[in-house]
Amino acid sequence: MSTIAPIAPSQFNKNNPFLATVTENRLLGKSGSIKDTRHLVVNIKGSGWQYQPGWSLGVFPKNPPVLVDDLVARLGLDADARLAQKDGSTKALRRVLSEDLTLNRASKKFVRAVAEKLPAGARKDGLLTVSGSEEALGEYVYSRDYIDVLNEFPEVKFTAEELVGNLSRVNPRLYSIASSQAKHPDEVHLIVAVVRYSSHGRDKKGLCSGFLADDTTLNVANLPVFLTQNKHFSLPADHDAPVIMVGPGTGIAPFRAFLEEREVRGARGRNWLFFGDQHRATDFVYEDEFAAWQRGGLLTKLSTAFSRDQAHKIYVQDRMREEGAELWQWLKAGAYFYVCGDAKRMAKDVHQALIDIAARHGGLSPSAADEYVNKTLMKDERRYVRDVY
Ligand SMILES: Cc1cc2nc3c(=O)[nH]c(=O)nc-3n(C[C@H](O)[C@H](O)[C@H](O)COP(=O)(O)OP(=O)(O)OC[C@H]3O[C@@H](n4cnc5c(N)ncnc54)[C@H](O)[C@@H]3O)c2cc1C
Ligand SMILES: NC(=O)c1ccc[n+]([C@@H]2O[C@H](COP(=O)([O-])OP(=O)(O)OC[C@H]3O[C@@H](n4cnc5c(N)ncnc54)[C@H](OP(=O)(O)O)[C@@H]3O)[C@@H](O)[C@H]2O)c1
Repeated sequence: MSTIAPIAPSQFNKNNPFLATVTENRLLGKSGSIKDTRHLVVNIKGSGWQYQPGWSLGVFPKNPPVLVDDLVARLGLDADARLAQKDGSTKALRRVLSEDLTLNRASKKFVRAVAEKLPAGARKDGLLTVSGSEEALGEYVYSRDYIDVLNEFPEVKFTAEELVGNLSRVNPRLYSIASSQAKHPDEVHLIVAVVRYSSHGRDKKGLCSGFLADDTTLNVANLPVFLTQNKHFSLPADHDAPVIMVGPGTGIAPFRAFLEEREVRGARGRNWLFFGDQHRATDFVYEDEFAAWQRGGLLTKLSTAFSRDQAHKIYVQDRMREEGAELWQWLKAGAYFYVCGDAKRMAKDVHQALIDIAARHGGLSPSAADEYVNKTLMKDERRYVRDVY
């Protein structure tokens, strides 16, 4: 693995985020795609940061202003009311709701408080039953935000202090950096899949992906961000070593950074990218960049799996299996194997495909193939690295 340069002495970190500037926010998919995936360019000039391919950017999101206004109006509260903060200062309710608390999903504590406040009767008993079971309560809050709950129980009111005391704090979200600083010295590029869904008759969105897509203002230095190192997920120190990258969907992000880095450094190692998404016509993000890298020889092989272009699903691991003999040759030649993207399903299936390839093309027994992947590649040689979420 490459030596990680120490983070340049910068005053900015998770506890003291840098106010970065979004300079570009464009749709990556083509017209007709059902996905909303964005390419964001975040200018970090002045942060003093030096980042490596494989690192992530942490982002502190804000809630949509309309959601803050709706909640305040629903409870008849004064958005300008000053609330005492832990450090002794005061802050307007509007800002507390906008910046500090999660509004896109009701907290369990809030639902329990609503149940307590309801007057005696069947409605109270019903909600007490739900809030008395972790499972039922988890299911209840999964699809509801505060407006949904208050729509169901409009008779319940909270003071500003009660409301704030029952809401959950905002956690920052991480995004894999999709650019090489060697190519874009002042910029971090992100690939963001925007979470959008509808429940209880209202459109909802992911807190941070929705904020980045809809509520950031271009060319204003107001996006609080921090850098996160990823010691294990880095390019090999040996520029001649081959690399195999498996990154369907937003999992492509760090591999665009890897390829840019290898391009700028003039690395001679071979590069093989597995990419997949729903449809070639609408979801083949960075198609032109990949084509140019193929023409120029940087991208030795590009294997694509467009899952919904045919009657049966085709995924990246199917392409790996089809090209298993060659993939095995690359591994035997010292290739590093990287996976990024969905942890729940994709990474597990890719892992199994790798074991199957070791067995089939390496002539290993099932247990020896398992050991080769899980121990030799992953632990001993550290040539199999994942960044999955
Ligand atoms: C190391 C790392 C790197 C990452 N890199 C990237 C990246 O490069 N690009 C990227 O896009 N993401 C990336 N992520 C994921 C990212 O951090 C966020 O988790 C993602 O953007 C969703 O956050 P959000 O705030 O928009 O959504 P949240 O507000 O957290 O909501 C998301 C949740 O909404 C829920 N939800 C979805 N559909 C429904 C529905 N129909 N009904 C009810 N609930 C629903 C799901 O439970 C989902 O977990 C990465 C994560 C990690 C840990
Ligand atoms: N853990 C998480 O929270 C998490 C992780 C990743 C993505 N997401 C969310 O999912 C949404 C889209 O994410 P994304 O753009 O990165 O794309 P994605 O949903 O990961 O899909 C990318 C491609 O992977 C395919 N795929 C589905 N199951 C697979 C499997 N088992 N093995 C291999 N490939 C598989 C998809 O096919 P089909 O869709 O046709 O089946 C699609 O072609 C976003 O809202 C994102 O936030 C959440």
